[in-house]
Amino acid sequence: MGDDQKLQVPLLTPYKMGNFQLSHRVVLAPLTRQRMYGNVPQPHAALYYSQRTTKGGLLIAEATAISDTAIGYPEVPGIWKKEQVEAWKPIVEAVHAKGGIFVCQIWHTGRVSNTGFQPNGQAPISCTDKPISPSNDGFHYSPPRRLGTEEIPQIIDDFRLAAKNAMEAGFDGVEIHGAHGYLIDQFLKDQVNDRTDEYGGSLENRCRFALEVVEAVSEEIGADRVGIRISPFADYNDSGDSNPDALGLYLAESLNKVGLLFLHVVEPRMKNAWEKFECSESLVPMRKAFEGTFIVAGGYEREDGNKAIAENRADLVAYGRAFLANPDLPRRFELNAPLNKYDRNTFYTSDPIVGYTDYPFLGQA
Ligand SMILES: Cc1cc2nc3c(=O)[nH]c(=O)nc-3n(C[C@H](O)[C@H](O)[C@H](O)COP(=O)(O)O)c2cc1C
Repeated sequence: MGDDQKLQVPLLTPYKMGNFQLSHRVVLAPLTRQRMYGNVPQPHAALYYSQRTTKGGLLIAEATAISDTAIGYPEVPGIWKKEQVEAWKPIVEAVHAKGGIFVCQIWHTGRVSNTGFQPNGQAPISCTDKPISPSNDGFHYSPPRRLGTEEIPQIIDDFRLAAKNAMEAGFDGVEIHGAHGYLIDQFLKDQVNDRTDEYGGSLENRCRFALEVVEAVSEEIGADRVGIRISPFADYNDSGDSNPDALGLYLAESLNKVGLLFLHVVEPRMKNAWEKFECSESLVPMRKAFEGTFIVAGGYEREDGNKAIAENRADLVAYGRAFLANPDLPRRFELNAPLNKYDRNTFYTSDPIVGYTDYPFLGQA
């Protein structure tokens, strides 16, 4: 397809994200796959990520634990130990070999965990000691231990070190995971955060932890390599807020002061991880407030992604399940080709091939 035709597909137009020249706007959303045995990145991930790499395309790696207290699921990768950093290197190299831009999503699950994942069987940490309501999805959450004010700098430092390690592993930057009810989101949301110190109460106080993480990570690797993902409107993992518009706007404005590379926001229509709801809320006020690159995600297809770009409601669109099942998603969007259907049953199974690297490319099915 010639350049003229490509320009008619807004998702396939080039975009300059800070110092990175992107050739199109179809981003691989962060996707936990639970195939990194023993929390160590595995060789099969090199194939998985390189399959989804295009020259000048942006990929966000799956959520990656910043410390041994950060884990809440089996077989997720970490980035706090030398062994993990070394194991990420060939995976990042495989993406770079095809000209991709690759950022690592750095993550602490907070209370979305249980004692079985924690060092010495201790309680998971959080901003609160309120447990998550018992889930009907088969997970068992242990009651968390509320972090003391004096312990918070250590957790911020774990994020900083994880970012440093990500650079050591060769990543182009990091995305701080501030979404989906995990530790940072637990601090942000007024339905979880019941602290009475300077990290709780007012909007400003609830955002303090997130912003201190952003600042520490930015000081370490440069704000031009740092983004954050947030989901102010979501309430899963028992993490809702009474005024998501105000929360999102305050964060967008505060992040401008740091000069952050990108702000990645999950659409209000995604009240949980899977289903799209009709809703009247919109990310446009946040988009207008934030001065860096604005990435949207959640339930996007080709047409509404194109529309979001064409109407300037976003700079980039991240695709999760569609990219999981279609390694050549940008090419399929270019040709308006049909998509492979994703298989939910293999999202989190541990096989190194099935449901992972065996989704067919166009013409292979
Ligand atoms: C299998 C799976 C794993 C996911 N893992 C993560 C993750 O590690 N970090 C994250 O921020 N979001 C994660 N998400 C959410 C996706 O990034 C995305 O926001 C969500 O799938 C909605 O977008 P979609 O409709 O394009 O799939 C995950 C979603 C799925 C389906």
